[in-house]
Amino acid sequence: MKTNRFFPKTDGVGLMPKQDRTAWLKGGEARCTMPPRKPLGNAWHLILLGAPGVGKGTQAEILSERLACCHLSTGDILRAAKCFDEQMQSTAIQSAVGYMKRGELVPDETVLRLIHERMRCLHCSGGFLLDGFPRTMAQAETLEKLLNEAHVALTAVFNYELPLDKIVARISGRRGCTKCKSVFHIVARKPQAEGICDQCGGTLVQREDDRLETLNVRIKTYEENTRPLVEFYRKRGLLITINAEGSPEEIYRRTRLLTLG
Ligand code: AP5
Repeated sequence: MKTNRFFPKTDGVGLMPKQDRTAWLKGGEARCTMPPRKPLGNAWHLILLGAPGVGKGTQAEILSERLACCHLSTGDILRAAKCFDEQMQSTAIQSAVGYMKRGELVPDETVLRLIHERMRCLHCSGGFLLDGFPRTMAQAETLEKLLNEAHVALTAVFNYELPLDKIVARISGRRGCTKCKSVFHIVARKPQAEGICDQCGGTLVQREDDRLETLNVRIKTYEENTRPLVEFYRKRGLLITINAEGSPEEIYRRTRLLTLG
């Protein structure tokens, strides 16, 4: 197998166990119980960009297993905070949940506070794969400053592109487990029994912000606030644009081929 700075020997050696993301999900003093496995080469410092529903979370799952870097999703922090953080539930998280339900972005101030509380994850020796952050120019500029201060260089920014009708099909068919948070699709990733999670037997439900009326707001928000980041990272020589059509495995293989060039 050819190797390069994106996909060296760690890729293909075997799947890594799912990372413990306690430090990311809880923030503050929380620590992961299972330290990340030290990569054979350089650790990955990746950002995934792309419209809602394009399949970032699905690719992040594959990439984090095969490249052994931790999947850091800001959407996951916000959804988890409802259960974890009693103090935040009262104010910032309650209002964040409102923004999410409407399909709008949570204010930069709230999101950047969550990131500051999780700086150890950006320094982690296992590397990272950021999914859903940054999402605005202010977030991208702050991240750049934080990484420069920490002497951490981004490896690449993967920008996934998919026609709108396919995005709508992916989002409207998505179902998530209320217990273990596994993600399914009613056509593309069917559970064995309808409405039941294959992993833990939990109930599968539609995410509140996946309803069609909210999806329209999310797409518009993406075009206005997040699309400009494509140019931001292109100018820095980090951008790799990937066609997100086909199966998750095909998209992963395409990502590898594009980065081998
Ligand atoms: P977030 O959780 O980040 O959601 P998102 O970016 O809208 O992305 P999604 O999780 O909806 O989709 P995805 O691209 O991960 O697709 P998936 O792999 O699941 O953010 C939610 C909200 O939180 C935001 O709207 C905002 O309010 C707030 N927020 C979060 N971060 C923020 C920030 N930084 N600043 C401000 N606000 C923030 O795939 C979708 C479906 O398609 C699944 O069912 C999957 O099984 C299926 N699928 C995936 N790949 C394929 C394939 N190749 N073929 C067929 N089906 C596929």
